[in-house]
Amino acid sequence: MKTKIAKLIAAQVPDLTESDIEGLMEIPPKPELGDFAFPCFRLAKTMRKAPQVIASEVAAAIGDVDFLSEIKVEGAYLNFFVKKDTFVEGLVKEMLADDYGSSKEGEGKTICIDYSSPNVAKNFHVGHLRTTIIGNSLYKIHEKLGYHVERINHIGDWGTQFGKLIVAYKNWGSEEAVKKEGVAELMRLYVKFHDEAEKDPSLNDEARSWFARMEQGDEEALSIWQWFKDISLEEFMKTYKLLGIEFDHFTGESFYRNMTDDVIKRISDAGLLTESDGAKIVDLSAYDMAPCLIVKNDGSSIYATRDLAAIFYRKENYNFTKCLYVTGQEQKLHFAQVFKVIELLGNEWAPEALVHIPYGLVSLSGEKLSTRSGNIIYAEDILLEAISKIKEIIEEKNPDLPNKDEVARQVGVGAVLFNDLYNQRIKDVSFKWDKLLNFAGETGPYVQYTHARCASILRGLEGFTPSEDIDYSVLTTPAAVDLLKEISRFPKVVSDAAERYEPFVVARFAVDVAQAFNKFYDADRINVEDESVRNARATLVHITRKTINDAMALLGIECPDQM
Ligand code: ARG
Repeated sequence: MKTKIAKLIAAQVPDLTESDIEGLMEIPPKPELGDFAFPCFRLAKTMRKAPQVIASEVAAAIGDVDFLSEIKVEGAYLNFFVKKDTFVEGLVKEMLADDYGSSKEGEGKTICIDYSSPNVAKNFHVGHLRTTIIGNSLYKIHEKLGYHVERINHIGDWGTQFGKLIVAYKNWGSEEAVKKEGVAELMRLYVKFHDEAEKDPSLNDEARSWFARMEQGDEEALSIWQWFKDISLEEFMKTYKLLGIEFDHFTGESFYRNMTDDVIKRISDAGLLTESDGAKIVDLSAYDMAPCLIVKNDGSSIYATRDLAAIFYRKENYNFTKCLYVTGQEQKLHFAQVFKVIELLGNEWAPEALVHIPYGLVSLSGEKLSTRSGNIIYAEDILLEAISKIKEIIEEKNPDLPNKDEVARQVGVGAVLFNDLYNQRIKDVSFKWDKLLNFAGETGPYVQYTHARCASILRGLEGFTPSEDIDYSVLTTPAAVDLLKEISRFPKVVSDAAERYEPFVVARFAVDVAQAFNKFYDADRINVEDESVRNARATLVHITRKTINDAMALLGIECPDQM
């Protein structure tokens, strides 16, 4: 509609293009002022007339139009009143499409998203939960826009810490304990190593030599490491399963271990490698940054070297237009250094294409959480706790619900995800169970409940199928128009969320649609005698249900039909 009106104006105003005009058009604050407004101030200079005069002349020149009921001139503004049923018809037809909200903006482009990436032999903690949730949502959003996405889990599975673990395992560990306790035992061994190394520093040399053996491909060292890795991945998978999250690649740091020599050579050939206290670095003082460490003074490779190798590998194999890294803010400098080194190696695409996407902390202040030993908070425990709390609510309020366990998982996980994604990602996330599990607040369960309500209305209408062939004048009531206007933001919401790398834009939209629906539901009765009224309203319920479902899917949240 906006585009159609812009076209009408453009035909009368030679100085501005259609898209300039669309950019200048406004949605009036009050419905009495029309559906769209165009301010004529900008034209005064070039047309050498008062803006009020221009407004009247343009209105007269446009004349009668089939889809407009009126063009009113208010001062310097042209106010357009769209014929409500034509307007509504246009919106509904667009919204009924299966792929409503998606676009082709990403066609032919590949985005790599590096997210989740927990560390082997450490627990999957709440910080990793955030990168997992945000990264997964960014994947869904980009996919909706037609991008090809490579989902990469850059597992922390290489580094000197594995030398320490092997030493600790050999001295103080046992196969049974690791088999029985899993990651918790590996963490215990790691702490034990540090305690013991304080008393006996020679253990550090031993650890270094075990890691050196790993880097040289020593069979014994690698088989212990592989075992630790398998055990850790098995635990991480449980969390991914609860979340319903998958990856295309589990290419962790170790995947790049044989590519680091090539990186070092490239840096050295470019004349960028300098020695510093026996280590090899890239000096970045010209860019106000600490140097990027490439090789440690004991000759071992490090995190940054493997990230450099990963960028070359991904560029070559996936030919990305962008590579996004979702990690906590504390890695800001690390990525700035790594991206700078890539740029200095002559890759002009680096500043545009490589993007660090930081996020804030998780605070559990005051909230009790049943944690495992050692007060360590596992992401899995948070999810399980949310699920069990929702299960209790279901048992109390709707004990006959079919599929209770699956619904509890969808709603419990949905509550945690929604709470995480409802604000700008850089803001800290707090866990207040009362708040995030509330069915009436701005929460996941509220939106899911609204979705289930739509589904239940539709179930109650026997023989109804959504259709374009409805009486559109039924949907011109204020509540229906408000709901349609809310839903009509979906395509823009998805592209804004991608442009800003901010899933919260979608989360807010989901709440806005749910609220507008609940108002519509109160104002306009759906299951009425008159079939044409019933069918038109039910079609809007169908659209609402589908849009909420699709928006929530972009956050990684499933919407059950009954809850
Ligand atoms: N394993 C790291 C951590 O837990 C995150 C890795 C992020 N990705 C990367 N390419 N550096 O902090």
